[in-house]
Amino acid sequence: MSNHEHQDSKHQPAQRNEMSRRQFLSYTLGGTTAFMVGGAVLPMVRFAVDPLLAKGGGATLVKVIEESKVTEEPQEVKFKVSQVDGWYKSETEKVAWISKDASGKVFALSPVCKHLGCTVFWNTHGRNEYDCPCHDARYSKDGKNITVANSPLDEYEVDIQDGVVYLGGIIPNTRA
Ligand code: FES
Repeated sequence: MSNHEHQDSKHQPAQRNEMSRRQFLSYTLGGTTAFMVGGAVLPMVRFAVDPLLAKGGGATLVKVIEESKVTEEPQEVKFKVSQVDGWYKSETEKVAWISKDASGKVFALSPVCKHLGCTVFWNTHGRNEYDCPCHDARYSKDGKNITVANSPLDEYEVDIQDGVVYLGGIIPNTRA
């Protein structure tokens, strides 16, 4: 390298790795926007997901009738259940048809017809069956579908404590 070239390189300004004004503005505005959007969206996501994360589980058991009052003839019992749907809490009335089988075991059937969801009633035509008034579906005392519907009536979970019958959630029929 000649002496002249050596002097030129000495006088060149040192290259600094600086951010341009445009980059600075982009980063600042981008960061602020992300912060504001996050602040608005995260609470909404939390609101939507929180009920799913909450510890839930099976339905609460509800006291419905003394076991001694349950007969082999199905009886309609009504009871109230607290429901939590997201943040909304409400009380709903439920209906069950409760009876004992030949061995004395208590069971309870849902009255919701498995055809299109009407409400079934016990023995309205004197046949000792559940009848649906909508399209004439029929079910046996165990809830087995006889005509029209393709599946048996659902059951309620049953628990007996100190001579009292408690009902829980709906389960598929275990008897038919
Ligand atoms: S809804 Fe019960 S028969 Fe159709």
